[in-house]
Amino acid sequence: MHWKWRARLGLLAGFGLIQLWPYESVSNAPETGPAPMPADIREWVIERCYDCHSNQTRWPWYSALAPLSWWIADDVRRGRAGLNFSRWKDYTPRQRALGWRRSLQRIRENRMPPLQYSVLHPGAISELQLNRLETFLKEQEVDAADCLSPSELLAWPATPLSHTSQTLRGAFRVSGTLSQPLHLDNALLLGQGDLNLHGGIRGNGAILATGKLSIQGLTGQIGPLALVGLQGISLEGSTDCRLEALVHTPENLEVRGLQLERKQYFLMPVVGVNQSRVEFCRDDGQLGERIERQVLIRYGHDTYVIWDSEFQLVKTAITLEQALDAVETILKADPVTSTTRWRRRFRSSWKKRLKRLAIPGTPAIFELRADQAGFNEP
Ligand code: HEC
Repeated sequence: MHWKWRARLGLLAGFGLIQLWPYESVSNAPETGPAPMPADIREWVIERCYDCHSNQTRWPWYSALAPLSWWIADDVRRGRAGLNFSRWKDYTPRQRALGWRRSLQRIRENRMPPLQYSVLHPGAISELQLNRLETFLKEQEVDAADCLSPSELLAWPATPLSHTSQTLRGAFRVSGTLSQPLHLDNALLLGQGDLNLHGGIRGNGAILATGKLSIQGLTGQIGPLALVGLQGISLEGSTDCRLEALVHTPENLEVRGLQLERKQYFLMPVVGVNQSRVEFCRDDGQLGERIERQVLIRYGHDTYVIWDSEFQLVKTAITLEQALDAVETILKADPVTSTTRWRRRFRSSWKKRLKRLAIPGTPAIFELRADQAGFNEP
């Protein structure tokens, strides 16, 4: 036989043999809770993403041929692990928001769908379609103010504000209208409902209101301040006023007169409040293993406040053991984080960190991170 024929036969035999190579095939499981989205968006998401990010993969004929079958099965397995539109019900609100946000980002960066897929399935996602997705996501995220919740504000240990003539240091509970000027020195003001500060403020600190936060009479150089108004913020001052602040509101921000210099990233010490973040990834290997979950633990005024931003759940605890138990209860309730392996890791590594929170004299940090908390840009 001619050598060319031998080579061809050899190749064919090799191709036939690798078909017998055992590999774990991936099948289409039933959808447990498909992601809700408008029909026009669903149309292209199914077309461009569902083959790897849902349980409704359309397996092409060549997906049965090794070695293509190995690569395709691997893409689908990893794709589904990162984001699965068919298992939306199993994700928490924050995970859903993250999944969508990352989707938009990866499409814009031309990283999704992957190149090898686009070559075999030509088609493009237009700028118009992406803008439409972005608008849809913004509508979804408005009420997911995932940096603070009214229940967390109310769980905070704080003394009622009685006299306002002196400089304020520490955490105070305030409400209604205050007409005298306030001087803050690393103070944390927690307002229930609408909060009106008519007499202006000086100094630095954080002012949080579960309702609308209105501040008037601002003059001179003020800040840095963190201002949170869960139902809107209104700021008014003289034109020479320069306010350095991180402003967060899921509603309207009105600024009149003054110059607002905003910081994207904010790290501010507030007396008596320490914070630690318990962050981890899903580790069951099947559901989005890279979609992280976080629980915030803040310590101040002899109390731990444990806030689960996923489920908007707040617990308070006095002792370290109680705090650890509270976090564990939160994690046990989530089917994804209830694995014993993770809990063991939590106990050993986080106990030390939480202990450190309560050591007097450690620099107290109250942290609001614009990049993670999704602060509103007007
Ligand atoms: C050919 C299969 C395939 C297609 C089609 C595809 N992806 Fe992916 N995707 C993957 C794989 C594999 C990964 C995991 C590896 C990685 O992170 O790059 C991934 C990761 C992602 C992630 C990151 C998830 C995480 O871990 O946080 C997002 C978001 C995503 N894809 C969105 C999309 C969107 C939106 C589309 C449709 C426009 C799409 N993908 C189409 C295979 C695919």
